[in-house]
Amino acid sequence: METEKVAAGAQFVDAMASAELASGAQRAVNVNGRSILLCRVGGEVHALANLCPHAHQPLEGGAIEGGAIRCPRHGACFDLASGASLNGVTRTAVRTFAVRERAGRIEVDAPRANVGYFPDFSQDA
Ligand code: FES
Repeated sequence: METEKVAAGAQFVDAMASAELASGAQRAVNVNGRSILLCRVGGEVHALANLCPHAHQPLEGGAIEGGAIRCPRHGACFDLASGASLNGVTRTAVRTFAVRERAGRIEVDAPRANVGYFPDFSQDA
């Protein structure tokens, strides 16, 4: 039986259909007014703030290499599971969120408004 590790107080909200995120793909979604980047690697989905902590630019479009994503702006590399910085471009981790798949949908633990600077890029052209 599969078990889930979910933080107390987690509030999962619908983000998108599982079938729309193929292995190796990424998609920025608007969750509670915040831009979240969903990435699927090896069948597992990761959810990160679509915000690079280096110069506050979107991570969307960055190359996914193994279990990491490389920011398309200046090359900072982050672990998809933990958000940890993996090279010297920045020491700051990118925020990650609990994510799960249920009944063909991807659900993300909704970001709260009081968690610091976290702009919404989802409406940008
Ligand atoms: S904004 Fe991401 S590496 Fe600079």
